[in-house]
Amino acid sequence: MQILEFDTVVIGSGLAGLSAAYHSSNFGRVAIVTKSQLDVSNSYYAQGGIAAAIAADDSPEQHAHDTLVTGRGICDTDAVDVLVREGRERVRELIDLGMQFDKENGNFVLGLEGGHTKRRILHAGGDATGKELTCFKLQLIRQKKNVEAFEFVAAVKLLQQNNRIVGVQAYDFKTNKNVIFRTKAVILATGGLSRLFARSTNPHTATGDGIALAYEAGARLADLEFIQFHPSALYIPGKEAYLISEAVRGEGAWLLNHKGERFMKDIHPLAELAPRDVVAYSIFRQIQKSGEKHIFLSLKHLDKAKIRNRFKNIDKHLREFGYDLTEDRLPISPAAHYMVGGVRTNLDAETNISGLFVCGEVASTGVMGANRLASNSLLECLVFGKRASVKAAQLQMHDYDFVDPAPIVLDQPNEQLFLQYQNELAELMSKNLGIVRNRKDLENALNRFSAIVEDFDEDLNEYNLIKIRNTALICKLIAQAALVREESRGGHIREDFQKESPDFKTHIIQQKNKNIEFEPIRK
Ligand code: SIN
Repeated sequence: MQILEFDTVVIGSGLAGLSAAYHSSNFGRVAIVTKSQLDVSNSYYAQGGIAAAIAADDSPEQHAHDTLVTGRGICDTDAVDVLVREGRERVRELIDLGMQFDKENGNFVLGLEGGHTKRRILHAGGDATGKELTCFKLQLIRQKKNVEAFEFVAAVKLLQQNNRIVGVQAYDFKTNKNVIFRTKAVILATGGLSRLFARSTNPHTATGDGIALAYEAGARLADLEFIQFHPSALYIPGKEAYLISEAVRGEGAWLLNHKGERFMKDIHPLAELAPRDVVAYSIFRQIQKSGEKHIFLSLKHLDKAKIRNRFKNIDKHLREFGYDLTEDRLPISPAAHYMVGGVRTNLDAETNISGLFVCGEVASTGVMGANRLASNSLLECLVFGKRASVKAAQLQMHDYDFVDPAPIVLDQPNEQLFLQYQNELAELMSKNLGIVRNRKDLENALNRFSAIVEDFDEDLNEYNLIKIRNTALICKLIAQAALVREESRGGHIREDFQKESPDFKTHIIQQKNKNIEFEPIRK
């Protein structure tokens, strides 16, 4: 097998991975390993923006307050404090480096989204913040001679010796060969898993690979039951769920039911800008009551020129679907959008495995609680991407004296089998683990997920079969955590336990070969 050596190996190329790679390049040679292209990630598609308390009438304390309220009692306060304070510094750093956020008359234009009590969302290119930010970071990274990118290379196993990371086994789709990356530190930044659901706003790559990699290596996972459903994804039967940014509601868009009523006004003081869990659940109920498949988003009452200018990409996409953003009632319904839990880390993005760091959506740093505050995710990528790289740089390279792992092979005909399983699992996830859950549905789903995991041996060496096992395994872990959490909180709603319970004001931890544990919320 080809063996390559780097000081740090970053897996994933969203904003978290790019931030980690950028900062790690100050300390040595860096590899960025991505199963797709460098510019395919959830971050790239982020429309809303990046939250930072930079306005004169705002403060990190106020930002922390909104994050904690939205997180429903299970954010780790120390991590939120780091996020809002260092986040502001990271954003200023980016601006100093030349990142162009949108301005009007020389001042930053700040957007508003659900759960924020102040306008604090910086955006770029109107509604193309993710693209602008990731392209900006990529251009910085391309100037670094000691960063090498490996596109179309999938990480399949974290290699360990004496409970310490010593490398990554990967499969290169371009050469059909295995590659071993020798390293002292792996920074996992593989993004989310919302593509496990049939209806999702995420790119096809968001399949939770990092969760399976980390779990198999023995890492602790936290709060996987919390899945954030975005309230406003375009609903056209048979078509992908196209995201219509919450920032549109920040500019005053209304949610209307089939009777034309603004139902959110009676549900929450912030109406359409209530936290996402509240809005998504309220839409779910409206859909259930009406027997229809969607509700509507309407911008008809707003300044048309302003809206078209602010949301250029959404406007263009909607035209392709035959809708006018400023005139039509847009059919929308919630879609899986964000994994709130993830691989458990401390404040330095370290896991329980020496040399394994995690940042971005795949991490559970403690800042998201039971429900992420809108536009906090890109901020988390900047803050914990840097923290991971600084801490990783303190490690020493260790000797490597084990035999090569069994090689991974690719058997193309198995791809069809993977797609069959993927569809079955996605249907089951959407039906039984969607916005509202109950014991019976969760148990039924869990039985099926467990059966698939059992059918596929742990020591498989064919890429597609490993993917089937991993996908079923992640679904199983989510279902197990959802069954244990007998309450409704944030992105986890149980019709058989409709209230928040003080008994569950805790993290739920899963680890291979261990029973589920509860971990106290950090102050
Ligand atoms: C959106 O633009 O509504 C998505 C932003 C986010 O998920 O934070």
